[in-house]
Amino acid sequence: MRGMSLSPDDPLLLRIVDDLAERGWSQQNLFLTPDLTRELALECRTRAVQGELAPAAVGRGATQEVREGIRGDHIQWIEPGQAASCDRYLELMDSLRQALNRGLFLGLEEFECHFALYPPGAFYRKHVDRFRDDDKRMVSAVIYLNDAWQPEHGGQLRMFPKNAPEFDVPPLGGCLVVFMSGDMPHEVLPACHERLSLTGWFRRRGNEPFEL
Ligand code: OGA
Ligand code: MN
Repeated sequence: MRGMSLSPDDPLLLRIVDDLAERGWSQQNLFLTPDLTRELALECRTRAVQGELAPAAVGRGATQEVREGIRGDHIQWIEPGQAASCDRYLELMDSLRQALNRGLFLGLEEFECHFALYPPGAFYRKHVDRFRDDDKRMVSAVIYLNDAWQPEHGGQLRMFPKNAPEFDVPPLGGCLVVFMSGDMPHEVLPACHERLSLTGWFRRRGNEPFEL
């Protein structure tokens, strides 16, 4: 059961570490329990109804701007202590962080994450998660919160691995996708239904780059 925290040497986490070492990405369809998936989806929808989600921006620092022709999702960053479901998610991600550090020596010290809601028709054009001027993002982790997702709903995550053909991941509730932030281009295809996810990045620590 993955409603609670996992030991960093849980076989599920070791499989993710092995996948990343071998090919740079991992997909685990049954990562979250149905209960935790439902609670997180409810938390995301509640925040959306309360107007807490805002159109996501592209870029960082002074060059950040909202561009719906590039990405149309609405997001809210998550902090510890806001909701029991979010805290359980953060605990799971911390176990994964420790497993990644033990297995891959990545020196990951921080995790940043947000809810994302793609309204019908929204998409996120092909991109890489690591910023050009800030290489602290090492590993990306996306979890889907959609109930009864159907292929005709669209919204697949399309991945473009360097040495393998591109492939699509359907945003099925409870599924976790992990990949190296620096070298896995990917995009989110338009969905005809509201599409919910949790997206996070494991980061190395470093001084914030000087911002003008
Ligand atoms: C992102 C992203 C993928 C997804 O937020 O950077 O690429 O499937 N999300 O939601
Ligand atoms: Mn991305």
